[in-house]
Amino acid sequence: MPNLYYNDYLQLDKILDSQQPESEKHGVHAHDEMLFIIIHQTYELWFKQIRYELDAVIKIMKQGKIDDSSGEIGLVVRRLDRVNEIWKLCIAQIDVLETMTSQDFLEFRNFLTPASGFQSVQFKLIEAQLGLEGEKRHKKEYYKRQGEDEGGFCPFHFEQINAAEKVDNVKTLLQTWLERMPFLLKNHWTERQNPSSFWHNYRELFLNSLNEKEDKTARLAEFNEVFETKGGGNFSASAMRSALFIQLYRDYPIFQLPHQFLMKLVDIDENISIWRYRHLMMVSRMIGMRVGTGGFNKSGKNEEGYLEGSLKHHKMFSELTDLATYFIERRNLPPIPVRLQKELGFKYH
Ligand code: HEM
Repeated sequence: MPNLYYNDYLQLDKILDSQQPESEKHGVHAHDEMLFIIIHQTYELWFKQIRYELDAVIKIMKQGKIDDSSGEIGLVVRRLDRVNEIWKLCIAQIDVLETMTSQDFLEFRNFLTPASGFQSVQFKLIEAQLGLEGEKRHKKEYYKRQGEDEGGFCPFHFEQINAAEKVDNVKTLLQTWLERMPFLLKNHWTERQNPSSFWHNYRELFLNSLNEKEDKTARLAEFNEVFETKGGGNFSASAMRSALFIQLYRDYPIFQLPHQFLMKLVDIDENISIWRYRHLMMVSRMIGMRVGTGGFNKSGKNEEGYLEGSLKHHKMFSELTDLATYFIERRNLPPIPVRLQKELGFKYH
């Protein structure tokens, strides 16, 4: 075997030969188009890594039964941690792109129509892997705009996104995992203190913890709906009970990783939202109220544009964020039976 050579290992000839400014093709020299291309390519490489990490998470979660005391949830947490760090980098990269001014962008912007970042398939696949459903996509009709000059997806990519929305994703698998959590089963409790008496008691404590500005009747109805009947968002009532229980008793050793797992997902939602917001701010300063190259973001002064809409509607784990509504002060948390406490400690056997 010949010695491995840096340039070949990283296939740098291919990568470094992949920046072909449109402006040059039109006989114009627009200096900033190189930065524009490299930034987008860098994003796509990071998106590839994020997809790779999420695939690994999905693979672990797809196994029928995850052994919570094995290293598997720890691995899920580490993979998601990496995803979050990459998102932070993606947010920071906007600063680099903003060294390009609006006028610099104008030098080559019209050559790009109707291509747009909206057509980043990997971005949509990441949303699908995390659990954004096709039906919930903001302005889903845009995806089908396949005619010339329309800025939607080509049929192949459109199908790829649709297919990704039909298979298991982090959110559906999280719901199954939460439902499977054994600690809220009767046999871990006592005759006197069982799961239903616990929730009954917790609901009273929650209502008593509300201040006078809260509408207690409305909160009681919500509590019953989320934890007893309908569930919250895409999660069933029993999955919501498990998620709340993990959050409440997160300091018990067995819940520390599950708690981090839930928090990493909340972090991902937050980081993607921050990215969306920074991108939106950058778009305003680059093009003002003009229409995007993909032709969607027609935001007038009082009108919600595509980017404002996706920022608002594309949250993947709001059910988990909303759990904070139902927390009570730690000092008032009801004690749980000794038998269950033992289950929640580290087991040495
Ligand atoms: C000068 C810089 C940029 C401008 C002016 C810009 C503008 C826009 C606009 C106007 C849209 C809405 C669709 C449309 O009408 O075209 C959009 C969507 C989008 N852009 Fe950019 N963009 C810029 C840079 C970037 C970069 C560096 C990325 C990184 C991949 C990116 C990724 C996206 C994505 C993923 C969407 C869809 C967002 C969603 O569905 O919520 N954009 N962009």
